[in-house]
Amino acid sequence: MEIFHISAECYPVAKVGGLADVVGALPKYQNKAGNDVRVVMPCYDTKFKNENDWEYVHWGHVSLGNFNFPFSILKETTDKLGFELYLVEIPDLFNRKEVYGYQDDIERFLSFQIATLDWIIGRDQVPDVINCHDHHTGLIPFMMLYSHKYYRLRETPSMITIHNGLYQGQFGFDKLYYLPEFDLAHVNVLEWNNCINSLAVGIKCAWAVTTVSPSYLDEINTFANGLESLFNMVRYKSIGILNGIDVEVWDPAKDPMLKKNYTVKNLNKGKQDNKAHLCELFNLDPDKPLFSFIGRLLEEKGGDLLPHAALLALSENYKQINILILGSGNTLIENHLNSLLADYQGNYNTYIGYNEELAHLIYAGSDFLLMPSRVEPCGLNQMYSLRYGTVPIVRRTGGLKDTVIDFGDDGNGICHDQASVGDICYSIQRGISLYNDKKKMNEIRTIGMKTDHSWERVCQEYLEIYNLIISKK
Ligand code: GLC
Repeated sequence: MEIFHISAECYPVAKVGGLADVVGALPKYQNKAGNDVRVVMPCYDTKFKNENDWEYVHWGHVSLGNFNFPFSILKETTDKLGFELYLVEIPDLFNRKEVYGYQDDIERFLSFQIATLDWIIGRDQVPDVINCHDHHTGLIPFMMLYSHKYYRLRETPSMITIHNGLYQGQFGFDKLYYLPEFDLAHVNVLEWNNCINSLAVGIKCAWAVTTVSPSYLDEINTFANGLESLFNMVRYKSIGILNGIDVEVWDPAKDPMLKKNYTVKNLNKGKQDNKAHLCELFNLDPDKPLFSFIGRLLEEKGGDLLPHAALLALSENYKQINILILGSGNTLIENHLNSLLADYQGNYNTYIGYNEELAHLIYAGSDFLLMPSRVEPCGLNQMYSLRYGTVPIVRRTGGLKDTVIDFGDDGNGICHDQASVGDICYSIQRGISLYNDKKKMNEIRTIGMKTDHSWERVCQEYLEIYNLIISKK
């Protein structure tokens, strides 16, 4: 089966969040299962782009109304990722360091989508299925159905995978003329709350909709930033498929980013060595439990709760615990977290920024990982932490609910119901007691390390949905 994944991110080419990890791993496993899988993404000015070899396979022009952008398609030549990777190079719009956050993001991602389809229809054969990811690719299913120039793709099944329904890519109808000519009888399909809403359009037009966990699918029926009723309407073609993790990249036995590799058999010694190294780097106390946070410092992830929770937990348990934060996002949260540094030296530290290598070391060297998310469509960090024998402390929501069960119910972690300072601190207290019960702690760590979250199994679920929509042609 020829499968195209179209996405704004893909690890290790360009990563902002978990979307990149999924699009960097799922295609590899789909390929291994005997399919022809290609990933298409914009060509940003990233390290991976600059350090690898590329071949030009196509040239064209995208028109957004009266704007005209030359583009080219580049293919990665070494096949080192385990799937074919194509970059859409539109120098005027994407030759920049960041993935998102520019004033012309609408123009950027719309041009990307148009260039991608222009290239795809010019190929000899059409794909068997096109899997779009998030709102940056949400207009593709619409254009495939209704744009005159893409009539060859009308019968090609498309699927949209929702990694985060909070971001929807809305823009006004004043930009309608950007879209390639289409049958105006269908203009209403573009509308949601008086705007063109890219995510809503993708949901309406795709042949199937997937979310990245079953619980998230249940939750967005009541909480989806204005799209609740739409999700209810398309329930018949929706399914929640829990993400996997790339167990080759995330393997404590082989991970080159760790100080010491380990398996479930020598997990105590292995974790101790990594913890000692981490504590040395961040001036922490290796004899005390280490609670870490890794991720984007946003309200959605409960980042705004961290400064207060850290302050309370540290002051109530003075010199009894360590807290380490790795992340970036909202500047107010970053500053608030840094403001605690002076008072809790030796037990608290932060690294404001993105650092993939350090993240690996933190999973290995920590005792607990905090994830107090308000919204978590799947969450990968809890799965990485389980695999590295670190006990996740999560709020019961979305994919966290599907992957972490409280140790009081014979599970693999610590769970709380509210995204609140009180609940986080209470869970930290439970963590301290667990840490002091060495036998129990070891048992929970072992359960976590033995859980199978590999993509092999999950990849079959994706293939089943593709087959189902292909059979509806
Ligand atoms: C987004 C979601 C996260 C999910 C990831 C991969 O980043 O916020 O919960 O794990 O996408 O699907």
